[in-house]
Amino acid sequence: MTTMEKPPADAPHTLSGNARSAANQLYRERIVSRDDPSSLPWLSQLLKHGMLELDHIDNPMYLTLLEGNMSSSAFESFLRPYYWGSSQGFNKKVLPAALKAHSNENWRGYIKSIIREENTPSCHSTMFSNFVQSLGYEVGDRPDTAQRFVDKLIAGYSATLGFALGYALGVETEADFQIAVIHSALLKQFPNVIARDEFFTIHMDESGEEAHAKATCESIEALIADGTIEASQVRDGFNAAVLDTRDFVCDIHAELTH
Ligand SMILES: [Fe+2]
Ligand SMILES: [Fe+2]
Repeated sequence: MTTMEKPPADAPHTLSGNARSAANQLYRERIVSRDDPSSLPWLSQLLKHGMLELDHIDNPMYLTLLEGNMSSSAFESFLRPYYWGSSQGFNKKVLPAALKAHSNENWRGYIKSIIREENTPSCHSTMFSNFVQSLGYEVGDRPDTAQRFVDKLIAGYSATLGFALGYALGVETEADFQIAVIHSALLKQFPNVIARDEFFTIHMDESGEEAHAKATCESIEALIADGTIEASQVRDGFNAAVLDTRDFVCDIHAELTH
């Protein structure tokens, strides 16, 4: 589990009350209020409510981002591991490993479509490091926190096919919410930079993470229909991706507060 524990249920939440409602509001907007992403009711249900059931929405890192009073150096300390894990690590390490992990044609077609997406109109991780630099920050070297997360992602995408697809669905669905959280936090601090930034425009658009999650659902539906994978594997993979991401962002948070 994470290095951060949730506060006990009776602890005062006054300080983070606004951040909590902002997190819930973003989750409703980005995930719950969407049209059903799949024709399989259990899959739509997993996508729309899975993260909520795992208490991921109001983790300490997202609440800190949404509280809106991070110092400039704390922002840099968040953006570095985030870049090396979720952006550069995902594009350059995880996706190539995922492509090699399974010979199933449907999986390979799916991963190739995500690789194409991640390079349209240009490499998204380069776009993100340019963005970080436009804020006056440096991405530096890959920190251990990010390396640990990349290793977990590779393990998730390389596990049994049903689990790997569920894992991919968890990653894409989580990214949809996560990018909205980061966007909202940055908007308060850097309104002018964010307003004209290509990375956030592409990822907040409905052809971004929402479309990636839909493409994942299509592969899952086809492989469930032909008996290649099972619903329980997909569910386990989805939950593992959410927990791995939660651990990653909570690890970043723990380092910020040391
Ligand atoms: Fe991307
Ligand atoms: Fe994505």
